Amino acid sequence: MRLTFSASSPSSSSSLDLRKSRLSAYIFSLLAFAFIFFFAAILYGEDFVYIFILGNSENNPLRQPISTINEAKLAFALWETKEGCDVFSGRWVKDELTRPLYRESECPYIVPQLTCQDHGRPDQGYQHWRWQPHGCDLPSFNATLMLETLRGKRMMFVGDSLNRGQYISMVCLLHRLVPENAKSMETFDSLTVFTAKDYNTTIEFYWAPFLLKSNADNAVIHRITDRIVRKGSIDNHGQHWKGADILVFNTYLWWMTGQKMKILKGSFDDEKKEIVEMPTENAYRMVMKSMLRWVKLNMDPKKTRVFFTSMSPTHAKSKLLGIRL
Ligand SMILES: *[C@@H]1O[C@H](CO)[C@@H](O)[C@H](O)[C@H]1NC(C)=O
Ligand SMILES: *[C@@H]1O[C@H](CO)[C@@H](O)[C@H](O)[C@H]1NC(C)=O
Repeated sequence: MRLTFSASSPSSSSSLDLRKSRLSAYIFSLLAFAFIFFFAAILYGEDFVYIFILGNSENNPLRQPISTINEAKLAFALWETKEGCDVFSGRWVKDELTRPLYRESECPYIVPQLTCQDHGRPDQGYQHWRWQPHGCDLPSFNATLMLETLRGKRMMFVGDSLNRGQYISMVCLLHRLVPENAKSMETFDSLTVFTAKDYNTTIEFYWAPFLLKSNADNAVIHRITDRIVRKGSIDNHGQHWKGADILVFNTYLWWMTGQKMKILKGSFDDEKKEIVEMPTENAYRMVMKSMLRWVKLNMDPKKTRVFFTSMSPTHAKSKLLGIRL
């Protein structure tokens, strides 16, 4: 498996050839709606993985030229972007005409921590942003097409509350097409499942803020300041991701404690726990490697797609800026 990392700022004219990343562009247009500023798509081919990471620095050590592009048609690809168009190079534009794609009041699934309007947020403008690539237009969102594409499939978001927000957004974008008696939303511990019965499809969210096993894995009670992550434990959560056709990962915010990360070498059940402290960068590198290894072993590049959402703005109460949920 060969990895290629590339970073580009939204304003730079990166020459990434993204012709073949049609679905990533498609998903991007969906996620962009919900304020994704940094987005990375993992596009993997038969024997290699591409990661496009949108960073903010030309000096990013991860920035390397991409040498090969997989020519095979990617699973779930819906359309082609204009040749040579870099969908990651663009800007946010105010679009009062076509945004928002749904209103908070129309979607019963938004969790209370994300219902800004309900909690009295006075401004509305934040709902009108749309991502506009410099070199082309993204097709407008088509919920019918999306549901048809997901027919008989499982789409799963895995990560923290920021990804839960993306998950809810996706459900809000699609649920109106599904009659009341043909859809359900259920939660089983760490897993939340939206089902569209007529489409035989599920859109799911799995709570795993570090992806690896940690002491913050309780889906409800997880506001832990003394965070401990267990090394080499990706399968612990990963067993619940198997069978997903589209996976959207994120992990970022929970690593940003400002201190070294506490890494558990043995098991959480050990009487005497072996815990080492690790700089955040090293700990984060460790989880990235674990995640990619898991993807390599468990996902079929011909039939499935994997995305990785990197840094995006967090959510906070107006009085408690910086709170991490
Ligand atoms: C949305 O997709 C469906 C299914 O492919 C298609 O029939 C319809 O024309 C599309 N709608 C728009 C507005 O493009
Ligand atoms: C529903 O989708 C699953 C795959 O997720 C498939 O195995 C099953 O046969 C489908 N059922 C129907 C009735 O189409």
